[in-house]
Amino acid sequence: MKVPFFTATREYNLYKQEFDSVMADVIASGAFILGKQVEDFEKAVCKYTGAKYAAGVANGSDALVIASDILGFKDGAEILTPVFTFFASASCIARLNGKPVFCDADEDTFNINMKDAENRITDKTQGIIPVHLFLQTADMTACMELAKKHKLAVLEDAAEAFGMKTTYKGKEINAGLIGDFGIFSFFPTKTLGGYGDGGMIVTNDEDLYKKAKCYRTHGAVEKYRHDYIGYNSRLDTLQAAILNVKLSHIESAIQNRAKHAAQYREMLKDVPGIKLPVINDGNKEVNYVFCIKVEKREALESHLKSKEIGTSIYYPIPLHLQKCFEYLGYKKGDFPVAEKLCETVLALPMFPELTEDEVSYVCESIKEFYKA
Ligand SMILES: Cc1ncc(COP(=O)(O)O)c(C=O)c1O
Repeated sequence: MKVPFFTATREYNLYKQEFDSVMADVIASGAFILGKQVEDFEKAVCKYTGAKYAAGVANGSDALVIASDILGFKDGAEILTPVFTFFASASCIARLNGKPVFCDADEDTFNINMKDAENRITDKTQGIIPVHLFLQTADMTACMELAKKHKLAVLEDAAEAFGMKTTYKGKEINAGLIGDFGIFSFFPTKTLGGYGDGGMIVTNDEDLYKKAKCYRTHGAVEKYRHDYIGYNSRLDTLQAAILNVKLSHIESAIQNRAKHAAQYREMLKDVPGIKLPVINDGNKEVNYVFCIKVEKREALESHLKSKEIGTSIYYPIPLHLQKCFEYLGYKKGDFPVAEKLCETVLALPMFPELTEDEVSYVCESIKEFYKA
């Protein structure tokens, strides 16, 4: 048996007619930038997530830069962001000459440790980027309390979090909708992934939305009238058409992911050498990435590779040890939890169309490794 870490082709084959038909429509229309399909998709995302406003952009990284620019995460402002995350959660600040202030991770959920974040606040701190990694949102109650107390703007990096929910002030709310801005990525592997790059900025604030829409088209309030120096970052019409199809099947995709996660949890629960992810009370998970913590990771990886099982490491190097962030002055040992995670995490195959037999094969292969 061969189990890929991820593949988009099984889903394509499942809904081939729908995908082919919407793609052909866009190509036949000759309109490729923004347009009706993008508007439809923005509306559909608002309906699904409960956001008041949504603006489609070229990718999740651009969404972070645009939102950072609008919120003033720039020009010397100190912005709290996790050290254990994808690069774009910090580069968006550095790109605008802001100062990323890294915070350690929570060892059970992998998300930003809000206590550590609070300890790093100075009179220059102006914002925080809670990143919702892998399965569940960061602790948004603690985040918003911190933000209120220290007057911080909040940009939720929900790139990985489409469909995740958390309980906030007694209500269930979708990831990305508690802070000032939230962003999603539609990178192909994501829970809602396109056939190329794509991203979205969501907010409940009309002024912020109007700015985001302007910023994605060179800061133009109308054609050739530029109130701001913005960006060229628009969601392709073709991607929006594809994403509209995918969104119509999102519930079954999320349910299938949950089924695989439950099977992993059941089959791996007693394996010595493995720690399964912990879901915080009040969080409703979406299994975007199923990351376990393991002993002897490199040897396990090679064993699984020899069995033709794909795995991945999210993330191998914490951000404070990246060469481009040397200027921030951090050193090895500064973020012990994140550093340990980088040495022990291993992501297992996870996509909706995996079969029960494939998940069994992955688990049996892991068990075989630890028995030996
Ligand atoms: C946490 C996080 N932030 C930001 C991004 C950037 O998104 P994109 O790849 O669409 O630019 C990603 C996606 O890889 C991500 O996982």
